[in-house]
Amino acid sequence: MAKTDPPADHSIPRHIAIIMDGNGRWARARGLPRLAGHRAGTENLRRIIEACVEVGVKYLTIYAFSTENWSRPQDEVQGLMGIFDEVFERELAELHRQGARLNHIGRLEGMRPSLREKVLKGMQITKDNDRLVLSVAFNYGGRDEIVDAIKAIIAAGTPTEQVNAELVSQHLYTAGIPDPDLIIRTSGEQRISNFLLWQAAYAEWIFPETFWPDFGREQLLAAIEQYGQRERRYGKVLES
Ligand code: IPE
Ligand code: IPE
Ligand code: MG
Repeated sequence: MAKTDPPADHSIPRHIAIIMDGNGRWARARGLPRLAGHRAGTENLRRIIEACVEVGVKYLTIYAFSTENWSRPQDEVQGLMGIFDEVFERELAELHRQGARLNHIGRLEGMRPSLREKVLKGMQITKDNDRLVLSVAFNYGGRDEIVDAIKAIIAAGTPTEQVNAELVSQHLYTAGIPDPDLIIRTSGEQRISNFLLWQAAYAEWIFPETFWPDFGREQLLAAIEQYGQRERRYGKVLES
């Protein structure tokens, strides 16, 4: 097999993480309120999940709401909470049917009780599914995650010499989930915005110009294709 033609199992990322950005600009371009963009940005989710299951991606992590997003105008924050509530209600059965396991990363305690209960119920119902692990990053901040890990390690009385990268990984919200191979940020913005700071150490990044509500199956497959052509070096020199 030619070097430019990697084996299929290497060309499909095991874990894709997505910063779903551009809902507000999508709405503004149509003269609609920002919340209409957020609502539209939930309608493509099902197709993205389906496509991941179809091509054999095992882990999908989506950035839904950051710890910094609380500082948006209150009506947008409240509107978003209402939309998340609806989406969990609407999509749970379909997620279960697809064989996906729901996972949450972030601080659950910051969520309103009705939403928290839905997430916990969803995690319980789907806990034995193994086709895809869907992690929803909600009230998630990469720095908070590292701070929480440090606190847990100290609270456990861990001897200094036992602290290493593996131990830190095991104390993150993502414990048990492999690091992302590919991170996609839609809308043309090119920054990390406090997402998976630790886990992104060797991820490949792709920044499509498409606003999130217009990002569908074709765009996802195109990103996976592009990923398949990348050469991941991990600091080494590859043989020529
Ligand atoms: C991403 O879209 C969704 C959330 C952050 C909840 P934005 O709301 O950030 O959309 P833009 O960046 O303003 O276009
Ligand atoms: C990151 O997008 C958070 C989510 C997509 C949930 P933002 O739109 O909030 O990020 P900044 O403010 O442009 O960095
Ligand atoms: Mg944004």
